[in-house]
Amino acid sequence: MSVYQRVLSGIRPTGHIHLGNYLGAIHNWVRMAKNTKEQLFCIVDQHALTTVDDSKNLSDNTRTIAAAYIACGIDPNKSAIFAQSHVPAHTELGWYLNCFAPLGWLNRMTQFKDKAGKNSDRANLGLYAYPVLMAADILIYKATHVPVGEDQKQHVELARDLAGVFNNHANYDVFPLPEPIIPKETARIMSLRDGLSKMSKSDLSDYSRIHLLDDSDTIALKIRKAKTDSDSIPGTPKELEGRPEASNLLGIYAALSDQTIETLCVRFEGQTFSSVKQALTDILISSLTPIREKMLHLLQNPDELDKILYKGAETANSLAEQNLKEVRNALGLLPRIDQLRKV
Ligand code: TYM
Repeated sequence: MSVYQRVLSGIRPTGHIHLGNYLGAIHNWVRMAKNTKEQLFCIVDQHALTTVDDSKNLSDNTRTIAAAYIACGIDPNKSAIFAQSHVPAHTELGWYLNCFAPLGWLNRMTQFKDKAGKNSDRANLGLYAYPVLMAADILIYKATHVPVGEDQKQHVELARDLAGVFNNHANYDVFPLPEPIIPKETARIMSLRDGLSKMSKSDLSDYSRIHLLDDSDTIALKIRKAKTDSDSIPGTPKELEGRPEASNLLGIYAALSDQTIETLCVRFEGQTFSSVKQALTDILISSLTPIREKMLHLLQNPDELDKILYKGAETANSLAEQNLKEVRNALGLLPRIDQLRKV
């Protein structure tokens, strides 16, 4: 029996997809697949429009993310892989949810504060309303589970809260309350240059992250340059406290090798970081090379990728339109003529 009824998640097609996206999100989607009844994976291209730098090369970046999903193990015959902009119901539901979202809730969103920076008056309205559109991405499918990294937890909680107020207004449960599924060990992969900042697409330094399309030499170089401290590896995870870079590198190694940090502490106890870095480089290369090769192969044939995206959008549109009809009805809007004909 499936544990997860309907899973939905997404990634913004901005710049390079990195190890944090893989370990915090996609790797978990693949692991959950066998216990999931239905899966939808969106490439959230309309979200990318909220930040100017990310809105460049949108169609190529959208295909790159689709290729990454497939290369990492998402089967397009079992899951719908699609672009958000191909399913207009997201933005329509987004508007309806805007009308239920108190400003006080949006003012608490930490990601807006991070992205808008000090001059929030100059930030665009799309960036501010982004979490509401993200709630619509989830609720339009009545998704029950949303696998994401730790940084998206607050957004999924907002989606739950908005589902709650909408249900209250409708006087019945139109939406299930979606649950965030956050991997314990890889919830927050940190920058290779600073163990206190998240690995992120927007970091100016390429050395802060491993891209899924990095070749072996680049991976080896980035790990060689990764920041560490001068202490040796301790015998227990407890002793890693206060050593963010050391914890991060061991955490990445643990996730890729499917071992616990305890086991790694025992294995490397007393050794210097150079031995961990060598082992980490080896496992990163052996894990990411097949993904990179498959992505490059898929990207050689953009028409095939587009076909997968159009097929995914067809599945997504049919589910979304059905739910949108119920939403419009719950809001008391006059039925559209095409809906009258279907009745
Ligand atoms: P985005 O594109 O920033 O990131 C995509 C996914 O990768 C995870 N992630 C990480 N996990 C661990 N460590 C890291 N350093 C790291 N960096 C990124 C994110 O948590 C996310 O799961 N708002 C979302 C996209 C979105 C979405 C949705 C997600 C829009 N609508 C609906 C789920 C459901 C975002 O910007 O993710």
